Amino acid sequence: MLEKDIDRVFFSGEELQNKVREIGAQITRDYEGRDPLFVGVLKGSFVFMADLMRAVDLYCDIDFMAVSSYGSGTTTTGAVKINKDLSYSVEGRHIILIEDILDSGVTLSYLKKYIEARKPASVRICTLLDKPARRRADIHADYVGFECPDAFIVGYGLDYAERYRNLPYIGVLKSEIYA
Ligand code: IMP
Ligand code: MG
Repeated sequence: MLEKDIDRVFFSGEELQNKVREIGAQITRDYEGRDPLFVGVLKGSFVFMADLMRAVDLYCDIDFMAVSSYGSGTTTTGAVKINKDLSYSVEGRHIILIEDILDSGVTLSYLKKYIEARKPASVRICTLLDKPARRRADIHADYVGFECPDAFIVGYGLDYAERYRNLPYIGVLKSEIYA
């Protein structure tokens, strides 16, 4: 049913699963002997994070933050508001911030500073997708699934007006959907 709204598939379910297993194996090697705390940025990261943590063979735990940027439309205003804060202390912990997509970078650069101020042992960023062409904040991800072109994409957690998060692949909507 949802498929009728999709113009083009960017990353198939199989490509996503393969990439997630690769990143999970890399994190397992990099954090050997440590127990990282994954902090997911809601809502977009929850599908990726659910798959990723099952690809990580370490003692680890998870927490979530929810943020929104002030303003409306598809471009961010640069100001970030915290709607749901951390439930655990991050002091002394190895934090891996999990995002669906790094776009302007405003959200993650704010969150990274926010967490760094709370004395973690380390902070790294893991994003499934990266749109480097649109970067405004000085930030880079330590783990990147795919670089993607400057198009608005949906699926595998990513939404358009809260819909399409449940697509098992990532694609672009037909232009009439956005109209
Ligand atoms: P930024 O890096 O602060 O600009 O914001 C990143 C957030 O914008 C992501 O977590 C997504 O929620 C949203 N976003 C950016 N690009 C897309 C897209 O192509 N599709 C769906 N959501 C997007
Ligand atoms: Mg979103």
